[in-house]
Amino acid sequence: MKKLLFALTLIAVGSLTASAQWGRPIDYSAGPGLKDAYKDYFTIGVAVNKANVSDPAQMEIIKKQFNSVTAENAWKPGEIHPKEGVWNFGLADSIANFCRENGIKMRGHCLCWHSQFADWMFTDKKGKPVKKEVFYERLRDHIHTVVNRYKDVVYAWDVVNEAMADDGRPFEFVDGKLVKASPYRQSRHFKLCGDEFIAKAFEFAREADPTGVLIYNDYSCVDNGKRERIYEMVKKMKEAGVPIDGIGMQGHYNIYFPDEEQLEKAINRFKEIVKIIHITELDLRTNTETGGQLMFSRGEAKPQAGYIGTLQEDQYARLFKIFRKHADVIKNVTFWNLSDKDSWLGVNNHPLPFDENFKAKRSLQIIRDFDAAADKRVPKDDWVPNPMNQPGQEYPQVNSEGFARFRVEAPDAKSVIVSLGLGGRGGTVLRKNKEGVWVGTTEGPMDPGFHYYHLTIDGGVVNDPGTHNYFGSCRWESGIEIPAPDQDFYAWRKDIPHGNIQQVNFWSESTGKMQTANVYLPDGYGKLVKGKNGKLTQERYPVLYLQHGWGENETSWPVQGKAGIIMDNLIADGKIKPFIVVMAYGLTNDFKFGTIGKFTAEEFEKLLIDELIPVIDKQFLTKPDKWNRAMAGLSMGGMETKLITLRRPEVFGYWGLLSGGTYMPEEIKDPKCVKYIFVGCGDKENPDGINKSVEALKAAGFNAEGLVSEGTAHEFLTWRRCLEKMAQSLFK
Ligand code: XIL
Repeated sequence: MKKLLFALTLIAVGSLTASAQWGRPIDYSAGPGLKDAYKDYFTIGVAVNKANVSDPAQMEIIKKQFNSVTAENAWKPGEIHPKEGVWNFGLADSIANFCRENGIKMRGHCLCWHSQFADWMFTDKKGKPVKKEVFYERLRDHIHTVVNRYKDVVYAWDVVNEAMADDGRPFEFVDGKLVKASPYRQSRHFKLCGDEFIAKAFEFAREADPTGVLIYNDYSCVDNGKRERIYEMVKKMKEAGVPIDGIGMQGHYNIYFPDEEQLEKAINRFKEIVKIIHITELDLRTNTETGGQLMFSRGEAKPQAGYIGTLQEDQYARLFKIFRKHADVIKNVTFWNLSDKDSWLGVNNHPLPFDENFKAKRSLQIIRDFDAAADKRVPKDDWVPNPMNQPGQEYPQVNSEGFARFRVEAPDAKSVIVSLGLGGRGGTVLRKNKEGVWVGTTEGPMDPGFHYYHLTIDGGVVNDPGTHNYFGSCRWESGIEIPAPDQDFYAWRKDIPHGNIQQVNFWSESTGKMQTANVYLPDGYGKLVKGKNGKLTQERYPVLYLQHGWGENETSWPVQGKAGIIMDNLIADGKIKPFIVVMAYGLTNDFKFGTIGKFTAEEFEKLLIDELIPVIDKQFLTKPDKWNRAMAGLSMGGMETKLITLRRPEVFGYWGLLSGGTYMPEEIKDPKCVKYIFVGCGDKENPDGINKSVEALKAAGFNAEGLVSEGTAHEFLTWRRCLEKMAQSLFK
């Protein structure tokens, strides 16, 4: 709904055409590059293939976003050195030259690995296994040749890749016997040399490059067993004087795993033995697989559901927050591939911040536009249940700073998202706590006032059983109320008289349906008072017709709008003379997306003027004339107000638009037809439009007033404030 309402505001307030706003793709790459956003933290890298460094558009992306490059495959022993004496330097050189020309430093990947390896090193010309000494000679020659050719452009080498065994294998068969699993991967290297090959590879690399950063690189470092195996191996090697400078945590993760705690455990453990950690191969699958194993599913060829994107954005945000926190050791974060199209996991795993068309996803923006202050912020611990909760419900809760936190029981769910979030995020993603309950806190303070929301559990939309429901988005939604500095003007007061709200049901011939309106009657309504002639009589009141927005109905103003409470308080404080407020359903919800340009409000005009007003004037003590009748509306109700008041100025003498557009003097044919015009919106909407309208109206001699609501957007606190201000100028 937010999106649609936002579009409505832009159209109405900014008087833009519908097509200019709707469907315009957002360029998430606009703004600084990732490398610039992270210049105070670590370098940002990408693994590249041939197309990435030959297609000009892709080269531009690399140059803008990254200051570290890894060759995805071109430098692997089996690729660059497939046979004894045979070297394939072509692609390897072209990647290095691209980097040299553009001043980008490289990570050298990789000098020794069990896969894509120069397996010829293990056998002689006759195909017989060689002794380890021969293997070492060949490995040394390989490492020296590669390192010497590229060390001018390389700052770090993945010297040994993936030498440790995976979790989940307590026993294994070695030479036909079941034995306790070795901490080491049973590679040809290991079988020939034991773990000595690791030490040798690092020694050869150090000989060839005395200053480069030498890295041991592996996947699943966040798994408890593997983390400890890597830790023990690196510790042992370092104690024996092997020149290992750092650990590469590959980072083939997914949208559910790891959580912050598991990631931090690994970083903190490795910090004990190395001063340098690189996140060497980051990507986030949208399924539940993880790791760098070369067997995996390639995702399903179906469009990605929106909530999956939200989970991925959230996971990227969480991981980078932890990376930033540990920037004392984390010196580089490298994405494994440039785009989903390039991803080794297959395009249907959607793992990267650039999509298959090289368009930036919102993930890119979220990774880039982090709030450094928010990284350290801990919400104040003065939580109270949201005032809109159902009886006895502790959650959701709000604190005095405007944070909200949620708690949802859904034991078998895979994901729970609360639709409320900050800064264009798709919401707040909850995580299962130790008790198996889904919990989460908004990333920062929310705008004050009322917000609709819902939960998305495994893609299905449901309400939060903790709160009451409020009609918005054409359905009953959950609601939360964030404390506002000025909340007293819409708070119940026990010490003042209260009016009441009546429901009026009436037959509408034009729509062929019963229709409903809620009518606020001020305290004292119907009581006998002494008239001018001394006779007892019943007082008559002016009427404000107050319209809701798209997706809402006749309950929206009285319930979440708190219109009755606002009126009671204004009357009690002597700020207004009592009047009636009629809040009817405005026929807005059959309106189809994409047809706003054709919206005329003609049906509602008929219902309002020919049917509702006569019912109200018949059933209630009204002053049934134009100078005692006002019309105002919010958002789409504002569009209705504008269209109807301009067409039927003989019916309404006071007009108000609340985040629902503006009037300009030239639109009003007869300046005497209106006594007062109100326009307002939140300062996060289009305040300029409001200010310009008020200025122009005043200059043309109209009695006009505006309100730009501080710190609010297209939401009910804006409109409560507008009602409070506007009411004080009506019927004067
Ligand atoms: C992958 C490449 O991306 C693929 O193109 C290739 O087919 C297999 O290897 N861990 C590593 C990387 O260290 O070298 C791997 O790269 C991914 C897992």
